[in-house]
Amino acid sequence: MDSKLKKQLRYLDGVEVDWNVTLAGHTSLRVGGPVSCLIRPLSLAGLRSAVQVLNQNHYPYFILGRGTNLLVRDTGIRAAAISLESGFSQVERVGSSGKIKVGAGLSLSGLLRFCLREGLSGLEFIVGIPGSVGGALCMNAGTDAGVMADVCQEVALLLSDGSLTRLSGAQLRFSYRKLELPADSVVLEAEFSLTPGSRENMREQLRQLLKARKEKQPWQLPSAGSVFKNPPGDYAGRLIEAAGLKGTRVGDAEISMRHANFIVNRGQARASDILALINLAQEKVSQKFGVHLELEIEVVGNNNKT
Ligand code: EPU
Repeated sequence: MDSKLKKQLRYLDGVEVDWNVTLAGHTSLRVGGPVSCLIRPLSLAGLRSAVQVLNQNHYPYFILGRGTNLLVRDTGIRAAAISLESGFSQVERVGSSGKIKVGAGLSLSGLLRFCLREGLSGLEFIVGIPGSVGGALCMNAGTDAGVMADVCQEVALLLSDGSLTRLSGAQLRFSYRKLELPADSVVLEAEFSLTPGSRENMREQLRQLLKARKEKQPWQLPSAGSVFKNPPGDYAGRLIEAAGLKGTRVGDAEISMRHANFIVNRGQARASDILALINLAQEKVSQKFGVHLELEIEVVGNNNKT
């Protein structure tokens, strides 16, 4: 990033900027090289001006949620990362109904705590899913107990030209692990429609969902959740296990013994180790079953040196 752009970003109102930030500290896999800077807008005005400056300078940027579905290459990314955690984590009830308005930067665990406190049911399925509200919306996160599409009524967006818009009802095109959004738009907040529920019943449901999750998935080691989407009519975990790959290691990265669709970091794994396991799983499953495994996690970064 050249010094002129650095200077412009440094003097913007309503944003905090850190330079040359290693993303290993900002991803659940605990791997990944640096971004040019990490921008934390404290307000909508701050976000808008940062995006405007980056666009004017044709400098790439991306929104960094909680980094829970992200594999950043070891060489890092020539881009600015923008975190909505500081300025966009508000949550409030809308009127006396079960409607709530939530900032994209709020963590899913923070959202769930609010729902429990307010006795609002409908989002229990997110228990144990790490990540931010914005990230969860963009990938229609969920489990077999529910997905974001079930409860999301409206999404507010910042468009690449700096204007604001809202998508609701049929305009919200959710599908399996996907929400179609205009190019380069940023999810700012969302409205969810929930129903009043007994706190005791909610707590019991959360306890059971979490227990089931912990029994099936590796939760003590860093990971990015499911690595691949389930192919139509089958399960990525089943296919990878049937290809004989459970427990396969490259460096400190391992195809989990507990759930084959998870790759865990046993300590000092590098992104290149994880990518090698991803390639191996795709290759073996394709050879053995003729099925292409499509990534659920997002891989970002310069790929010339990994
Ligand atoms: N299976 C195996 N071997 C394994 C793992 C799974 O044979 O190592 C088989 C299981 O026996 C089961 C089937 O595969 O018959 C499905 O497994 P599981 O119930 O664990 O669900 P999943 O389809 O692998 C999905 C989501 C998870 C979510 C769970 C629970 C995807 C890609 N994954 O997993 O979401 O937690 O259901 O509802 O849709 C995530 O998206 O990051 C994530 C963790």
